[in-house]
Amino acid sequence: MKVAIIGGTGAQGLNIAKRLAIAGEDIIVGSRTEEKALTKVDEVKELLSDYEVNICGMANEDAAKEGELLILTVPLAAQKSTLNSIKEFVDDKILIDATVPLETAIGGSPARFVDLMEGSAAERTAKILKKTSVKVVSAFNNISNSHLENIPEPIDCDCLVSGDDNDAKKVVMELIEKIPGVRCIDCGKLEKARMVEKITPLLIGLNIKYKSHYGGLRITGIPQIEK
Ligand SMILES: NC(=O)c1ccc[n+]([C@@H]2O[C@H](COP(=O)([O-])OP(=O)(O)OC[C@H]3O[C@@H](n4cnc5c(N)ncnc54)[C@H](OP(=O)(O)O)[C@@H]3O)[C@@H](O)[C@H]2O)c1
Repeated sequence: MKVAIIGGTGAQGLNIAKRLAIAGEDIIVGSRTEEKALTKVDEVKELLSDYEVNICGMANEDAAKEGELLILTVPLAAQKSTLNSIKEFVDDKILIDATVPLETAIGGSPARFVDLMEGSAAERTAKILKKTSVKVVSAFNNISNSHLENIPEPIDCDCLVSGDDNDAKKVVMELIEKIPGVRCIDCGKLEKARMVEKITPLLIGLNIKYKSHYGGLRITGIPQIEK
């Protein structure tokens, strides 16, 4: 599948790009500038020279146009402008919102959450794109870029997935579970992202407190989702 990562040059987006490229997906790294996307893609190709990967770089708008499935990985401050720049290309596509409204967006702590009127960043994304037929799915929020970057180690984390469209969630979960170690859990409707996103600053705070980069989450005790 052609997966376009919007704002894919940063810590989260580029490491998702690496993992999905290794998994055999066709990856487009998006950026505000094509030049930056191309530079980052060159770095990734060099780093992953032992793997056969299909990855290219484009401006966000072109990436959104070309991508069959989109992943949004920008900070809160960039969410609205980035989505507005791509909204004419999102109809009928799935957009994974991996963003978390951290207090860093207003000069605060990464271990604190910013409450949004819409309830969650994912619901804010859905609201910004409400005139389109995009299907927004919230995922990747609790998996740190350090875990993603730690190639080829498997990621010892669950990925909590929320969204209003069951078929879209299925596609997303199948995609993400191609990353070794990750187990996806369908948490229900998109509004569940309100709780899921709040776990991220908790994990960041734990990483700071215990001097780690690998704080993560596993849900236990639910036989139906044990694999
Ligand atoms: N880092 C993590 O471990 C982690 C984990 C879970 C969730 N998340 C969430 O994932 C999202 C991305 O995190 P990140 O750490 O990758 O962020 P980041 O590195 O700060 O930013 C990602 C990309 O967003 C674009 N961007 C940054 N500021 C912008 C602005 N003011 N306007 C427009 N575009 C801007 C940049 O791309 P260009 O300059 O190329 O356009 C940048 O490379 C955040 O919402 C974060 O909360 C991160």
